[in-house]
Amino acid sequence: MAKICLCLTAKTLKRNLEILDKYRKYADVTELRVDCLEPDERLLIRRFPEQAGMPVILTIRRDIDGGQFVGGEGVRINLMARGLAFAETDRRRNFAYLDIEDNLDVPSLEEAAQTFGTRIIRSYHNAQGTDANLAAKIRSMRHSGDEIVKLAVRANSTRDVLNLLKAGKECADQEKILISMGHYGMYSRILAEQFGSMMSYCGAFAETDAPPAAPGQLDVQELSKQFRFRNITKTTKVYGITGNPLKATSSPLFFNTIFDLEGTNAVYVPFPADSIVDFMEIANHLSLEGVSVTIPYKESVIPFLNSMTDEVQSIGACNTLILTPQGWRGANTDARGFSGSLLAFLARENFKRQRVTIIGAGGAARAVVYELHRLGAKVLILNRTAGKAGRLAAPYKFASGGLDERETARIEKYHDIIIQTTSAGMEGTGDSVDPLSFYNFSGREEVMDLIYNPKMTPLLKRASSAGCNVLNGYDMLIRQAQHQYVYFTGKEFPDHLLSRVRYGEI
Ligand code: ATR
Repeated sequence: MAKICLCLTAKTLKRNLEILDKYRKYADVTELRVDCLEPDERLLIRRFPEQAGMPVILTIRRDIDGGQFVGGEGVRINLMARGLAFAETDRRRNFAYLDIEDNLDVPSLEEAAQTFGTRIIRSYHNAQGTDANLAAKIRSMRHSGDEIVKLAVRANSTRDVLNLLKAGKECADQEKILISMGHYGMYSRILAEQFGSMMSYCGAFAETDAPPAAPGQLDVQELSKQFRFRNITKTTKVYGITGNPLKATSSPLFFNTIFDLEGTNAVYVPFPADSIVDFMEIANHLSLEGVSVTIPYKESVIPFLNSMTDEVQSIGACNTLILTPQGWRGANTDARGFSGSLLAFLARENFKRQRVTIIGAGGAARAVVYELHRLGAKVLILNRTAGKAGRLAAPYKFASGGLDERETARIEKYHDIIIQTTSAGMEGTGDSVDPLSFYNFSGREEVMDLIYNPKMTPLLKRASSAGCNVLNGYDMLIRQAQHQYVYFTGKEFPDHLLSRVRYGEI
């Protein structure tokens, strides 16, 4: 099983020991980053393994490799030798591993390490990108048979991650550590086992003076508690979410908490991807069982489906992939998530005799329109680009128009429910605007905004102060995730967890 290595990057040995003591229960191995220590402290590293009480990697990373060591090579080699000096018969008092870069050739150091049972990690770093022909690199790096090869290369794209994954598979027989650095490769750190990597490096970011040792590195608690790293084996079912940029998603916390509470041998991982084509290849290599799909791939994923539900067919958007023996099946849980949430809020069974205005005509609006039609509403679709609203409305014979004050009179005819489906008002988009600012609420409208961050968009705030009942998109998000859980696992959503989900505890 892959090990967790906690990187210690504090300025003093004492502080590193404090951090280690706080998080030791999560780690199997720790890496002393000597380059991060103050110069005087670097001279005192020899007793660290004994004080640490767990296997320690001795690493002095150069600045060119992403570390903080700027001195000469002579000094660096001397410091490594100090770390290995006065070897003890009780090996727990020696460094368990020594990290030596593949272009550093110091036979005396290698000999000393081998003699005293310190294993060499032969490392290669590329902070700029991912090299071609990684398999050949892995095979050629070892200077002697007992070395562990470590490759830490930056992924600038999903293809880079795919290449590292393939190289790991090709060299399945070899002990190695593979890391795809940066945002696109972050899941290589969670799925170390699946990448054929014997160790995953993480940090203690809750400690303000312990900076990440490498881009994309995860926090030790996140890796251990949220992703339950130590439970991930070759038989663990892997699920996840793909999208771009996929920076803030609450789905991993939701699914992993439920898998944990249910004792399910499964993990749910974020897969930020700059190409749906390359991601689908990764999904096959990693044998993913199910995938949540979000912006911008809900439509572009459709050609990869072997079969699809009627909803996907009619809506033209897919947010759920389920692996079947025949290939990927596509489903859309946004639609049921939306209607379940709004009907519960209104205490209704359907939308018959309801006249509804929808703002927006994008992917999210399509699922909403489909459900409103299925459940009997009369709808007006308004969009900044009126033509797009017209194209969405036509098959349903719904009304449509542009998003401006000329439509005020028509909104007044479709004002039982108003549903906002665009990204206007969402946190982080720079669009903290109210797309319906020209319309004065009477106070009788029921107003829903699919956005859940912030909890109250400018539109919801204004509607609420006019006396309207308002609903944000959080409940819809949870409901669509519950439907995904059923698709993914084939089991009903656990009843005893429903109330915890509703109150936002998960
Ligand atoms: P999604 O899948 O989230 O719906 P999308 O398919 O790209 O994303 O659609 C985005 C929708 O939000 C569109 O209706 C878009 O209007 P245009 O079709 O005119 O582009 C709408 N939208 C985005 N930003 C907006 C803004 N600031 N004001 C009004 N509408 C906006």
